Amino acid sequence: MQKPKLDVLYSAATLQQRLEALGQQITEDYQQAGIEEICVLCVLKGSFLFTADLIRHIGIPLRCEFIGLSSYGNAQVSSGNVVVTQAIQNSLEGQDVLVVEDIIDSGLSMHFLLQHLQEKKTRSIKICTLLLKPDHLKIKLPIDYTGFEIANHFVVGYGLDFKGLYRNLPYVGVMRGEH
Ligand code: IMP
Ligand code: MG
Repeated sequence: MQKPKLDVLYSAATLQQRLEALGQQITEDYQQAGIEEICVLCVLKGSFLFTADLIRHIGIPLRCEFIGLSSYGNAQVSSGNVVVTQAIQNSLEGQDVLVVEDIIDSGLSMHFLLQHLQEKKTRSIKICTLLLKPDHLKIKLPIDYTGFEIANHFVVGYGLDFKGLYRNLPYVGVMRGEH
């Protein structure tokens, strides 16, 4: 396979710096709200790296749960047809849930997830996304924490994929031209 043309958008160092600040903010906010323990819901597959690094900067006790969502197939535009590919294993009842996503693009996946979580009887839900494409949002979402707002590029790396590849890049890069 031909190597893609990638421009580095956020280096590994830049990502870690931002994560540290996000983790501190999240910690302070929950502490100020008197919440002593949270449940971090990692949205697979894209946010496994982000979640792993972010939680090391969160200073309150937490549990991790995982949900698998798929909306894209292999295309670069959201199909809007979101399906759960892996169910959450444990009950979220009474928990303060922090949803951790790699990227919010159209917002349709997150909208679906919020609806899916409605019947789980959580105590609270907050959303944290590493990347947000504000100009692509098709729906209003209560996003609490955003790592970076980006233009309408297709990005890969640091968990984000194109056709399942590039998740292992330590940086976020923009795909250019034909791929
Ligand atoms: P949405 O439903 O349009 O908000 O898309 C959310 C999902 O699409 C994300 O969780 C990603 O898996 C995928 N996605 C959206 N934009 C990109 C991108 O630029 N690169 C890689 N995946 C993306
Ligand atoms: Mg995702």
